[in-house]
Amino acid sequence: MTALKGNLMFGQSGGPTSVINASAAGVFIEALKHSEVIEKVYGAANGIVGILNEKFYDIGQEDLNELEMLKYTPSSSLGSCRYKLADAAKDDTDYKRLLEVFQKYNIRYFFYNGGNDSMDTCNKISKFMQNAGYDCVVMGVPKTIDNDLFGTDHCPGFASAAKYIATTTMEVYQDARVYDTGMICVIEVMGRHAGWLTAATRLANEKGCGPDLIYLPEVAFDMDKMLADVKKIYAETGKVIIAVSEGVQTKDGVFIPELVAKDDVAVDSFGHKQLGGTASVLAEFLKKETGAKVRGIELSLMQRCASHCASQIDIDESFLAGRTAVIKALEGMTDYMVGFERDSGSEYKCNIKMIPLNDVANTEKKVPLEWINKEGNFVGQEFVDYALPLIKEETKQIKEDGLPRFAKLKKVLVK
Ligand code: F6P
Repeated sequence: MTALKGNLMFGQSGGPTSVINASAAGVFIEALKHSEVIEKVYGAANGIVGILNEKFYDIGQEDLNELEMLKYTPSSSLGSCRYKLADAAKDDTDYKRLLEVFQKYNIRYFFYNGGNDSMDTCNKISKFMQNAGYDCVVMGVPKTIDNDLFGTDHCPGFASAAKYIATTTMEVYQDARVYDTGMICVIEVMGRHAGWLTAATRLANEKGCGPDLIYLPEVAFDMDKMLADVKKIYAETGKVIIAVSEGVQTKDGVFIPELVAKDDVAVDSFGHKQLGGTASVLAEFLKKETGAKVRGIELSLMQRCASHCASQIDIDESFLAGRTAVIKALEGMTDYMVGFERDSGSEYKCNIKMIPLNDVANTEKKVPLEWINKEGNFVGQEFVDYALPLIKEETKQIKEDGLPRFAKLKKVLVK
């Protein structure tokens, strides 16, 4: 099959990761090598929103060295968005506008870098373009610290966040037992509906500096049960570390901050509640109930932008995911997301696995219940065996004056 001739549009969407830009680098650097087919490479400002507003950058004008630096630059360099496309059967306004922009700029390759919602966006756009008879190759490039994308062994971005979370838990452990008095620490980890990231605190136990209790959103959260768990350990040791997911919910489906929220919790365009605040609510509760000194620590944005603590395996795989999207697109594939399949050998190795967008869109992959203990307050060895190989290598991030050297893009707007 002859590859389509035209231009490529790449966009990033959803919450960023510390390695999402490595995927951008993979797409850009590979695509720029194929100028006989991909004539121009564009980067959308703030994902789909930038395309709708005709705001995108000419990546061909960037220095190759700076594109390489993207591998070690956290956050979405092009800017991200949380913009939900309507069902085209009900309202096709945005789709018509996208088609108009694609036609105007001869976009024949559309790559979207994101998680579940972004893969849904990607899928919807592809279907609309096909129905409109417009030839365009569409590829999903995965990213999410949440690690909840269907069909892939793991998601780019997860390992680096997991490495930071495990490392920080170990460091907090050291600090949280300095005094001769008692201490309870609640560490809150992101991950919305899936507990992969919170489970990463379990890696710290492998080094003897881990949490006593781990609560994932896969299991209904019971305040009284948690209090009893904490009191028991506190009575025995005087020190308790609790790792809790921002996404834990009571059996009635209520998030912890909602138990005390005076106003409605903010919701994004996908209907996701803005989480965060679980640690401080639980810390207040435990302080009142136990009288102990309690600290609530929310890892917040740090866990997804800590590029100084990124996993080099994650960086390399994120780059590979972007590069592979270009290679597969030029081979004639469309409507796939790049994923990974783990080799069964004793050494860690992952192979590429292309997953149909239809299968990925809107499906969440959770931590298997068999990996969680029957009390619902700890994680088993299976998780350690799964996650540890992903975090082993150190980032090769370049430093200047002891500080990270991030990419400096010119961001030349396409007129
Ligand atoms: O993209 C995933 C994620 O990082 C979740 O873990 C978290 O709940 C959410 O994004 C936070 O989103 P925002 O940055 O829009 O507040």
